Amino acid sequence: ESPTLLVFGSINQDIVLRVPEFPEPGQTLKALSASRATGGKGANQAAAASLQGTPTRMIGAVGNDSGGAEARAALESAGVDTSSLMVSDDAATGTAYINVRGDGENTIVVEPGANAALSGRTAENVFADARWALLSLEVPESAALEFATRAQRLGVRVALNASPNLSGPLPEGLVDLLIVNTVEISSLAGSAWQQIEDLPAAVGVESVVVTRGGAGADLFQRGEPVQHVPAEAVKVVDTTGCGDAFAGVMMAALTQGAQYQDALRQATSFAGRAAEHPGAMSAYFRIPKAKD
Ligand code: RIB
Ligand code: NA
Repeated sequence: ESPTLLVFGSINQDIVLRVPEFPEPGQTLKALSASRATGGKGANQAAAASLQGTPTRMIGAVGNDSGGAEARAALESAGVDTSSLMVSDDAATGTAYINVRGDGENTIVVEPGANAALSGRTAENVFADARWALLSLEVPESAALEFATRAQRLGVRVALNASPNLSGPLPEGLVDLLIVNTVEISSLAGSAWQQIEDLPAAVGVESVVVTRGGAGADLFQRGEPVQHVPAEAVKVVDTTGCGDAFAGVMMAALTQGAQYQDALRQATSFAGRAAEHPGAMSAYFRIPKAKD
């Protein structure tokens, strides 16, 4: 049996507006176009991972509505195991309102809906074949930490994409791998994080990956010199979900037994390709399989 990746996180319906500029307070703008698709950091990560051929199971919550049904179908078309999805009768599927500007930058406002009801008290059998669990924080932080604690107790390694930000410091020793962008690492380790001698030790984890968009990614491991992976040049259309693509592919590779450096290289490449197509998860389906 090949080992499984568990992805614990949000599932949204994305409502995407292409805008000529971001609106200022008091300003009314006309969108250039509008579209809807399944998104959410957790769902995006699961889809990206599964598209690499890694068995991937999503733990998340949707509403009993069309957005939830579409999300399940989108995940399944990426090959994700959706048998652990929770369907809420009280809350609607989460919605993300996304503005995308001509240069591919975005702003996002999320209405959590059913994501707010996600519980970390996942049944033990879900962890059975798992090697890694990947968590993100568009769901209640307490649920994510409870899920991580369970995973660790059952011998599953824990990766945290601390996006959006954590409310406080990480519990020491709970997370093996932290995946963050420059804003998120600043909030965890302070704005002078690049001057810290041993960054993983400072934030209480084994390894830290800092993603820097077009500048690639840096890998910090306890007691080792920082390793940099450059990004390939891409024609940016829409960067929405590129961070999710990175985290999903990195964890898919690690679950398949890849070395960190190789996982990082695969993740950087796929995340760059994802920026070349519109949408978050929808972009991943358009990226040809890497030949090695
Ligand atoms: O990271 C991108 C995702 O963030 C979007 O798909 C949207 O759902 C928001 O959650
Ligand atoms: Na994209």
